[in-house]
Amino acid sequence: MRTPLAIANWKMNKNSQEARSFIDEFLPRVTSLTGVDVVVCPPFTCLHVFKERLAQTGVGLGGQNCFWEEQGAYTGEISAPMLIDAGCQYVILGHSERRHIMGETNEIVNRKLAIVLKNGLIPVLCVGETLQERENHRAREVVKEQLNEGLKSISVSPGRLIVAYEPVWAIGTGVNASSEDAQEMIGFIRTQLARLYDDEMAKTTRILYGGSVKAGNVVEIMAEEDIDGALIGGASLDPVAFAEIARLVANGK
Ligand code: PGA
Repeated sequence: MRTPLAIANWKMNKNSQEARSFIDEFLPRVTSLTGVDVVVCPPFTCLHVFKERLAQTGVGLGGQNCFWEEQGAYTGEISAPMLIDAGCQYVILGHSERRHIMGETNEIVNRKLAIVLKNGLIPVLCVGETLQERENHRAREVVKEQLNEGLKSISVSPGRLIVAYEPVWAIGTGVNASSEDAQEMIGFIRTQLARLYDDEMAKTTRILYGGSVKAGNVVEIMAEEDIDGALIGGASLDPVAFAEIARLVANGK
């Protein structure tokens, strides 16, 4: 049984005062929700606000990135043990903005996955093709390569990995993938997990869709067999909108 999951990715938005206001509005709306795991990934500078306020609420906390070494001379980087110290249980890795703006390769994502798992964090591995790759009918090939190389030599127990399929052309554009297209790719990702690991891994791994998810389209997306939840950017900045999405994700299965 895969518990539905709604993850907020705030990206580089909100200061600590704004995070406090968000929590005041958001928590009362989600604390009584059942049948869904809710996780917020704010900027590093807001993690302390969530750490204080999320304890005992059941809402999880995640980082948006981390470095592939545990400590040392890596100016500006944050390590997996630091994320744990800051209250995180999860971390987003290989988000398309990091791949395309910061130049992260599959090899880098692979090194990050290894250190994150070693430290007991649950990685949210993001994969997805660009518009050009989709138009050139290379979407599956690209996602397959991201999984093959990202997960190369990574041993992981069932339940300790989350995958998010986020087609790059759907992120922040207001144009979401159709639920059929999302299901098709997410079903494909599940078959790849069976190939790379085993059937149990394929059956138990939660695979999310991300890219312009909002209350108006999440019900249709959640109705698809292989889609276990959503990774939400823009709409997660609004506490009322994100709480509503979390409620719909819970009801969607
Ligand atoms: P979006 O972002 O919901 O604003 O499209 C999703 C993401 O980048 O994770």
